[in-house]
Amino acid sequence: MKNKSLVSINDYSKEEQLRILEVAQEFEKKPVQTILQDYVVASLFFEPSTRTRLSFESAVNRLGGKVIGFSEATNTSVKKGESLRDTILTIANYSDLIVMRNPVEGSARFASEISPVPIINAGDGANQHPTQTLLDLYSIQKTQGTLDNLHVALVGDLKYGRTVHSLVIAMCNFNTTFHLISPLELKLPSSVKMHIKEKNLSYFQYTEMNEVFSHADILYMTRIQRERFSDPLEFERIKNSYILHKDMIANTKDSFKVLHPLPRVNEIDIQVDSSEKAYYFEQALNGVYVRQALMALILGLR
Ligand code: CP
Repeated sequence: MKNKSLVSINDYSKEEQLRILEVAQEFEKKPVQTILQDYVVASLFFEPSTRTRLSFESAVNRLGGKVIGFSEATNTSVKKGESLRDTILTIANYSDLIVMRNPVEGSARFASEISPVPIINAGDGANQHPTQTLLDLYSIQKTQGTLDNLHVALVGDLKYGRTVHSLVIAMCNFNTTFHLISPLELKLPSSVKMHIKEKNLSYFQYTEMNEVFSHADILYMTRIQRERFSDPLEFERIKNSYILHKDMIANTKDSFKVLHPLPRVNEIDIQVDSSEKAYYFEQALNGVYVRQALMALILGLR
């Protein structure tokens, strides 16, 4: 993985993904180290973020490294018309690794093709969010004791939810049965379903939420992505399609967990937070360890 950019989850093999999860366990046991003391990581966020940006920056800081970057591009020379190419080529002079979120699908791939330093895609439009997937895999493995042969229910905006796209593709390596719950307008794109079909795995599509809870291992809730809708009325019509309440998960398996990449808007009632089956805040914490592991491996320090 040394010097290897991560743009799409499939850029890394199943074995490489599992290696990241293994190294993440080490960082969970000992998150404060000095291995990045000679390194500068650039954190370029052209689109809003709380967890991804701050967990990356926390991960670097806890490993003794330095962070440069921005949380919005309005104070940079992008505002004067500078291209993404020139921005990346410039910032690569100042850093050893670039973490980038950009609203344009394919922008991370483009950056990886021209950058002399590795690029980590922190989300490109509605396309992919591979580091979220790595922390989702870590969270599933940690709570279920395995990644194999699970029933995973994904609920909400399966069309625009980039975390869903990356997670489904990754879970295709583990004989997963998928339960896809969405409004008809927000079904999982066929380009992602193609990965399920290629592996001859089973998937079921629903429009009602609680049909599958009794045999699901993981419920992966997602937000309806307001920012991806061109028609605000369409968003208003379907924004509250699914709201999870505590009583709905009462009869689930003991090991059942509710995950959510966050941010939550109102698709999980806050009463669910007190359930032992709610795991989304621990999931966000796992992002620090997984991102520490990923950066250590890309920089050749593990
Ligand atoms: N999960 C996630 O990507 O959250 P942020 O948008 O806050 O980074």
